[in-house]
Amino acid sequence: MNKPFSILAPGEARCPGDSVQDVLDADGDNPPPVYRRQAYQYLGSDDLPFERYTSKAFFDREMERMWPRVWQWACREEHIPEVGDYYVYDVGLHSLIVMRTAPDTIKAYYNACLHRGTKLKPSGSAGSSLSISCPFHGWTWNLSGELTRLLCEWDFPHVNKEEFNLPEARVGVWGGFVFVNMDENAMPLEEYLAPLPEDARRAAFEDRYVSLHVEKELPCNWKVAQEAFLEAYHLLATHPQLLPASGDINTQYDILGQHVDRLYNLVGSPSPLLEREVSQQEILDSMVLGDREQLGGALRVPDGGRARAIMAQYFRDLVGEQCGRDLSDFSVAEVIDTLGYFAFPNAHFFLAISFPIVYRFRPLGTDHTRTLFDLLLLSPVPKDGVRPDPYEPVRVKIEESYGIVPGIDPSMAVIYDQDTGNMGWQQEGFGAAKKKRATLGNYQEVRIRHMHQTLDKYLAD
Ligand code: FES
Ligand SMILES: [Fe+2]
Repeated sequence: MNKPFSILAPGEARCPGDSVQDVLDADGDNPPPVYRRQAYQYLGSDDLPFERYTSKAFFDREMERMWPRVWQWACREEHIPEVGDYYVYDVGLHSLIVMRTAPDTIKAYYNACLHRGTKLKPSGSAGSSLSISCPFHGWTWNLSGELTRLLCEWDFPHVNKEEFNLPEARVGVWGGFVFVNMDENAMPLEEYLAPLPEDARRAAFEDRYVSLHVEKELPCNWKVAQEAFLEAYHLLATHPQLLPASGDINTQYDILGQHVDRLYNLVGSPSPLLEREVSQQEILDSMVLGDREQLGGALRVPDGGRARAIMAQYFRDLVGEQCGRDLSDFSVAEVIDTLGYFAFPNAHFFLAISFPIVYRFRPLGTDHTRTLFDLLLLSPVPKDGVRPDPYEPVRVKIEESYGIVPGIDPSMAVIYDQDTGNMGWQQEGFGAAKKKRATLGNYQEVRIRHMHQTLDKYLAD
């Protein structure tokens, strides 16, 4: 029985009704221990000043002290499959040329000329070249970063070409993602991401390809944008259509490391806030996973059956057929639940094999009130083993709907549009507020607090 609130320590209270773990018990199919882990920590209750989202000085401090010292995923390996392929990764004023310089080597060069500083490749660009040439006076480096062309060398007797290699940032690869870090002394990527690589082993991100890629412009600070995806507390007010088939206030939150936390949101299980009984068939009909047209209302829950099990079997068959694998040993939870990992400062990885998405949130240019949100759907490489080309990103402007993106599930587009509305209103509210601080829930909003506490560590050092 739940203890009365008055005798609970801060952060101990949980919503009444079924927890994530109760629902896993009812599934009765033994999901891996990763799904059974519970690792919430109480991190305090202090208010969070809005200045963190509204101050250009704060943003500049992030640019100077945080972004150059953290691991960020820049692109997928499949974006640069051949030697010479490059992808320019930008965050604020920082810019790196992420380049495949040998079949099994990827380097990240600072995107600025050693002569007079000109940007070597345009921001946001990608392409292929066997050298890097400055557009201004033509200084040129080979793929290994060595200066091979210096026009009028006679005028630069003070330049020792051996000392004019293009400076590099560090590169790490996990799950098919290419990560970069501008800090030479940063901890190794695997350590930084722990325990994500091990926890996500069965989701096999490396065996996937980008089947959808949205670049959405958002009217808010980059932290506002991603915080909208760090909690499920907003589902009742923002996405009421999800209530029959999605957990919300019973979502589980875990702090897993300095840089990593997660949320476990149930799919195919009604919200504890729903004030009526729902049948298992209604739950199944309300589930927002993939193409409902394709399902055609054909899925039925037999007497005594569970919507979660039916939906999971549907996706085991569908995804198994696509990738030519037997997925019968995947538990219901692994197939359908939203187990979302966050890797500081801006990456979100969702493990469900039915809906493997990843997010990334970056400042849009150097404007502290604008964000670029990358939303990628990662589908399994087809059973013929031929990796399709990655989906060409579709840019969606602030005022445009996600619905314009070819191939996006219409019900998903509605959900993301609902989130976008909040973001602009929240950023505007910071300005209108008399109380200039956010007050967070101890449990459901702990990941927001965790993110800010980690950010503070970088800003303070
Ligand atoms: S600035 Fe690059 S060659 Fe002159
Ligand atoms: Fe949302």
